[in-house]
Amino acid sequence: MRKKIVAGNWKMNKTIDEGVRLVEESFEELKGVSDSESIVIFCPSFIALGKISSLTHGRKNIFTAAQNCYSEPSGAFTGEVSATMIKSAGADYVILGHSERRQFFEETNQMLARKTDVALAAGLTPIFCVGELLAIREAYQQEQLVERQISEGLFHLKEYNFQKVVIAYEPVWAIGTGKVASDEQAQEMHAFIRKIIAQKYSKHVAAETSILYGGSCKPSNAAGLFSQADVDGGLIGGASLSATDFAAIINSL
Ligand code: PGA
Repeated sequence: MRKKIVAGNWKMNKTIDEGVRLVEESFEELKGVSDSESIVIFCPSFIALGKISSLTHGRKNIFTAAQNCYSEPSGAFTGEVSATMIKSAGADYVILGHSERRQFFEETNQMLARKTDVALAAGLTPIFCVGELLAIREAYQQEQLVERQISEGLFHLKEYNFQKVVIAYEPVWAIGTGKVASDEQAQEMHAFIRKIIAQKYSKHVAAETSILYGGSCKPSNAAGLFSQADVDGGLIGGASLSATDFAAIINSL
C-alpha cells in the first residue's frame, strides 16, 4: 500500500531556535500520530537540518527533508550542499524541483534528473515537484507540461529506483496565493500522473507511488483534497509554519 505523507516545507523561514520550537510544538499537537502509519516530514533550511533531524530521529514515521541538493556528488562547487552531506545531517528525504527552484534558480528538467540520481545514490528519497503556471492551465496545456517534467526528470530511472520517489503536484498558481486547486482539479491531475507512470512502468508501480498535492493547502481544505482517490497527502508551505495548522492538516489524512 502506498504511503500517506504530509511534508512541511518551511522554505527560507525559521532560525534554528524557531525551528526547534516549531517541531516541539508540533510533537505536542501530534500526540497519537506516532501510532499511525502516515509519514510526517519537516523540511527546514540546510543549517537547521542537523538539529531538527536530531529531534525527529527515532520517532516512528517522522522524518526530515532538505529543500534542495546540488546535482554533483562532491567537488569544487563553493556554496553548494551535496546529497551525501544532507544524508549525513540525518535527513531521509529531499525536495527536488520545487517551482521556486525552477523559477528563481532556473532549474531544468535535465538538471533535476541529475539531482534525482545523486539523491538516490546517497540514500535520500526525492520528493519530486511538478506543476504548471497559470498561463499553461489557461491554455489547457497542464497535462503536457507535467508529463514533460516527469518524463524528462524521472523516467530515465530503472523501476527499482523510480519506486523510491515521491511526487508532489503543485500548481504554481496555487502556491502561496491562497488559490487552492479544487478537489476535482487535484484528483484529475493526480490520476493523469498515475496513468503515465503505469504506461512507463506498470500499473503496480503506479499504484504504489505516493503523489502529494501542494499549493495553499490548509486545515480548511485539506480533508477534501486528501479524500480524493489519487491524492496521498500534501506538501505544505505557509501552513506548516504553525504547529496547530500543520497538525490539523496531518490529522486530515
Ligand atoms: P503553500 O506552499 O502551501 O504556502 O502554498 C506550498 C509549497 O510551495 O510547497
